Amino acid sequence: MLMKNLIRKSKIYLALKKIKRNLSEKLSLVSVFYYDFKRFKLHYTTNALNKDDQKSLESWLLQDKHRIEKALSLPKPRYNFGEKVIERLIQNLNQYENNFCKNEVYYIAVGSIKAYVDFHKKNNVHILDTIQSHINRLNHEDFNNKICNTVGVVNYKKIEDTSDFFESFALSRQSCRNYDMEKNISREQLEKIMKITAKTPSVCNRQHWKLHVFEGEVMGEILKLQNGNLGFNKNIPYLGVITSDLRSFYMPDERTQPFTDGGMFAMSFIYALHSIGASSCALNWCTSKENNEKMYKVSGIEKNESIIMLIAFGYAKSDSKNACSPRLNLDNFYSINEDSTIV
Ligand SMILES: Cc1cc2nc3c(=O)[nH]c(=O)nc-3n(C[C@H](O)[C@H](O)[C@H](O)COP(=O)(O)O)c2cc1C
Repeated sequence: MLMKNLIRKSKIYLALKKIKRNLSEKLSLVSVFYYDFKRFKLHYTTNALNKDDQKSLESWLLQDKHRIEKALSLPKPRYNFGEKVIERLIQNLNQYENNFCKNEVYYIAVGSIKAYVDFHKKNNVHILDTIQSHINRLNHEDFNNKICNTVGVVNYKKIEDTSDFFESFALSRQSCRNYDMEKNISREQLEKIMKITAKTPSVCNRQHWKLHVFEGEVMGEILKLQNGNLGFNKNIPYLGVITSDLRSFYMPDERTQPFTDGGMFAMSFIYALHSIGASSCALNWCTSKENNEKMYKVSGIEKNESIIMLIAFGYAKSDSKNACSPRLNLDNFYSINEDSTIV
């Protein structure tokens, strides 16, 4: 016994213990990074685009149409810009029409070509023949679809200063952990909430996020996989699972973008809920590979979607109490260059 205690206190024993801890920490980091690497590699859309996958093709359409729309909003748009983008967009549109159908995404993409043509017409500039030959591969009757008119540029409209309203709105939001289980959210309300939420900015306007809503048994099973709902999981009427579709990403450099955009989408959803008088509590998805896999099984969410986070929501119980969660001094959250004009 004495010997055992002496060994336990010896420097070599302590050093070996530290090495073991370090190693196992590194191994588990490598193992989760590898898991994320495999998932991203399997589901993201490489340049060798799988044209049979509708979502992948749509992502390319939306991305290229955004390139055109964005260029038209620059201080001085160049004439005859983007030949390569236009060529690829029209090739993909032809492919899309052949493989799938002319739907909203199709006409939104066509709308960007229409905006391009209109821009040159308005400025009396001839479109280069090489570019025009690509454009001619589209059926110009498609330009008449009203969805096309929702694409292009609009004049900036100055809005009144609403910061006082937004300040009191934002400062009155609090996470809720005690909901009224009798009070439902209607389909109409959810649609209003989603209209606000979908206005969230996303990379190249790819809109790759999704909210999956769960209740009842399945919700209970999902909550068992999440580590921050102890003590209030029986008082949650609705559970949102926010995901990002990896097929909307094209480059290894975009590996963190699903989470950035997904987080912003989640915040919009939280504010939209608050705007109708409902409440929410963000729930982390800091979870193991095993739980992540179980989540797909239990929820039925497609594996090409990455789970970003969960959100409990509903109406707060009238006598519920919320944590005050004070914020630190604002100095902690920003810094300004020495030569800044903000004085
Ligand atoms: C991504 C994220 C994950 C969170 N996860 C949990 C969680 O698992 N359980 C929980 O009770 N609260 C969770 N929260 C809520 C935070 O505790 C809460 O937002 C924070 O304390 C600030 O309080 P407030 O939202 O009332 O301003 C989470 C918040 C975020 C943004």
